[in-house]
Parts: sequence; structure tokens; C-alpha cells
Amino acid sequence: MHAQHHPATTILLKRDEKQFETTVAFNNFADGDTHCLIEDTTHIRGASVLVRHYLYPNQNEQIVRLLFLVATLRDLGARSIEVFAPYLPYARQDKAHLPGEIISSKLLCRIIHESGVRVLHTIDCHFMKGAPETTVEGLKIHNLLVQGMLVEHLETITNEPYHIIGPDAGSAYLADGETMKKARSAHYDKHADGSIRRSVDTLDDKHLTITDKTIVIADDMISTGGTMIRALENVKERGVPNVYAMTSHGLFLQESFEKIAVLTTGMIYSDTIAREGAVPVVDAVFEEIANHQL
Ligand code: R5P
Repeated sequence: MHAQHHPATTILLKRDEKQFETTVAFNNFADGDTHCLIEDTTHIRGASVLVRHYLYPNQNEQIVRLLFLVATLRDLGARSIEVFAPYLPYARQDKAHLPGEIISSKLLCRIIHESGVRVLHTIDCHFMKGAPETTVEGLKIHNLLVQGMLVEHLETITNEPYHIIGPDAGSAYLADGETMKKARSAHYDKHADGSIRRSVDTLDDKHLTITDKTIVIADDMISTGGTMIRALENVKERGVPNVYAMTSHGLFLQESFEKIAVLTTGMIYSDTIAREGAVPVVDAVFEEIANHQL
């Protein structure tokens, strides 16, 4: 068997008003089969369990690992199991666009629920569009936003007044809300064919002259970077001198990190996906969940 490098899974247990922690070793057999071993099982029977498990990168393997872990915890008599997954993969496929197409976000929720997870805590879940909670296929999802922490970080690197916008209608919620007092929202329209309208129909002078020189484009995730890059180009074409890219989940595929870096004054992304320079949010969110749930 060989171990794969991945951010470690944390298992917190609470029983008889006392808190314990245990660890799990995940490995793969030579043929790829997954193996899961909880190292100290002493305090599991009757305990409330909170697991922090990263479902990305290697999402398929990480999903299987989570299911194996939850099943093992149940077999060992855990009383209730909640999971914190900082980034929820498959959340973008939340409808079938073609007949016969999988709605993978629903399936994932169903199998996590059926495995015995009571609540899934996650950060800025794509299909929730900023809502604090929902239930999908029986799975209760608690969605935490870290936009406030990202904005705090932004304010450590610039003193300029700024204006936050989303690159499409789906991300407009990131420009609103209590933490966004200085911001106003605007968005571009993303058409059904995936193209983004780059005219001034939805992003006009009244949006861009509010705080003059500094614009932040905020999106829940940057995957290939296509959406963010088009939005940045649009804003830059309009002569805005300081443009920041902000995201909860920076997957930064296809060299998009480098492409976005050359277009921006700064990039702000959280550590739900590990990368140098990420704003640390995961530990603080986990602590908050643990204080509340355990
Ligand atoms: C889409 O609705 C999301 O909010 C993101 O805008 C999108 O998923 C980002 O993907 P990409 O970086 O590949 O354009």
C-alpha cells in the first residue's frame, strides 16, 4: 500500500462532556483500492463526532475515503456524525442540461446522507448562492461564507476605497450583505451558451464610477479562470487602474493563476484549496463549527 499526500483529516469526538481527538490513516492498495484505519478507537462509542475532511483535490478518491471513514465510525458506535468539507466538489452540476445527464451534486448529497452523516458543513457552496442552509436529498447542509475574512485581508493590502462586483448573476450575492457595506453589486450576464455579455448593458458607468479606481471581482470559485479573466479584461478595458480578483475556492486550473496574476493588482483566495499565499480561513471556520456543534 502507498499513502497519498493530502491535507490531513481531523476527527473530533465529544463524550460525557469531554473532548477527544483521533486520527485516521488512509492508504491505497497496489490496485488502487482504498483502505481506512482509525488509529485510536477508544472514545468513539456513544460520541458525537465532527470530521474535517478535504474533498479536493482528487475528489473521487476523497469521497470514497469519507464514506469509508463514516461507515467505520458508525460501526464503532458513534452517536452522531457531522462533516466539515471546506470545498464541496460536484456542486456545479446541479441540473441536467441534457436528457440522461447525471445531476452529480444531488447524488453526492444523497450518498453522504445515506452513509450516515447528519449535517455537512461547507464553505461557499456553489448551488447555495450564499444561503446559510438547505437540505438536499435528505442531507442538511450548513453553508459558511468567508467573504468577510477575504475582505478583511483585502483591507490589509489596500487603503483605497473599492467596489466589489460579481462576474455573473450567480455571484452577485458576494457583493452584498452586512460585510459589504462599502460595496455595491453589479454583474454581467452569462448567457446559456456560456458567453458573457461584455457590453455596458449590465456593467455601466454608474457601477464603475462609484469608487473610481479600485474594483474587486469576487466569485465563489475560479476553476479554469475563464469567467474571471473575461470579467477582468472587461473592467481593464474600461480603464480601471486597480483590479483585484477574489474567490472562496481557488482551483486555478490550466495556468489560470499566472494568467490572472498579470491582469490584477492582487489576488485574494482562501485556503479551502491549499496554495501558497492563501488567506487562512479553514481553521477558524472549523473551530467555530466545533464550538457550536460539539
Ligand atoms: C459559475 O457559475 C461559477 O460561479 C464560476 O464563475 C465558474 O464556475 C468559474 O469557472 P471557470 O473559472 O472555469 O470560468
